[in-house]
Amino acid sequence: MTAPPSTASRTNSTWHRWRCTCCSATSKPSGSSRAHLPATGPPITARHCAPTPTPTTAVGGGHGTLLATILAAHPRVRGHLIDLEPTATEAVGTFVAHRVRDRVRVSAQSFFDPLPAGAQAYLLCDILHDWDDEHAHRILARCVEALGPGGRVLVVEPVGGRRANTEFDLAMLVIFAGRERRVEEFRALAAAHGLVLDAVVDLTDQRCLLEFRAADT
Ligand SMILES: C[S@@+](CC[C@H](N)C(=O)[O-])C[C@H]1O[C@@H](n2cnc3c(N)ncnc32)[C@H](O)[C@@H]1O
Repeated sequence: MTAPPSTASRTNSTWHRWRCTCCSATSKPSGSSRAHLPATGPPITARHCAPTPTPTTAVGGGHGTLLATILAAHPRVRGHLIDLEPTATEAVGTFVAHRVRDRVRVSAQSFFDPLPAGAQAYLLCDILHDWDDEHAHRILARCVEALGPGGRVLVVEPVGGRRANTEFDLAMLVIFAGRERRVEEFRALAAAHGLVLDAVVDLTDQRCLLEFRAADT
């Protein structure tokens, strides 16, 4: 796996040059309704690419843009998208459009219920900031109880004081009673579930990747 580029050189085009040892190719998705997502997919799995029988599970994966980008960039990775209906069914079209449908499962269920167990990574992109601490704890608890050996919880979202803006933070507070948490707040939130924060990576102007692993692994 190649080393991540320096923060200064992390442009979107740089992200697409990331390579890992098990996947030789990367590819660009055909388009996205959420501009930050295509730029975040390849580096996430360039760091966590594991072409094992266990998938990367996008928890609250929305219409699947990020997961489709990950799968397109890493041909040996498999995915599992979890979301409510009708979003889950709508996500199928995204995977078809990205030609990765054969490597992804889609499940319509709540992330407050038990998640499919044993995945390599549980990916929470723009999820926790929608929720107050009580609900964020419940979501993390579901990820941790499902986590396979050596697995990771990957959080992608704006991080207060680092990759977030005040307008977005206020919107999260007013609309969802959530907020853009700071690194130390994420660390404390996750520690309550036995998770250790291994790394914080600036992905784009408004998103960071926070990598958590179980403390006993
Ligand atoms: C802000 S969107 C993020 C979507 C996706 N992760 C992304 O970054 O594009 C939040 C997602 O959480 C989903 N969601 C909300 N409540 C949920 C629940 N209880 N169980 C599963 N998904 C839920 C919504 O349907 C929506 O797709």
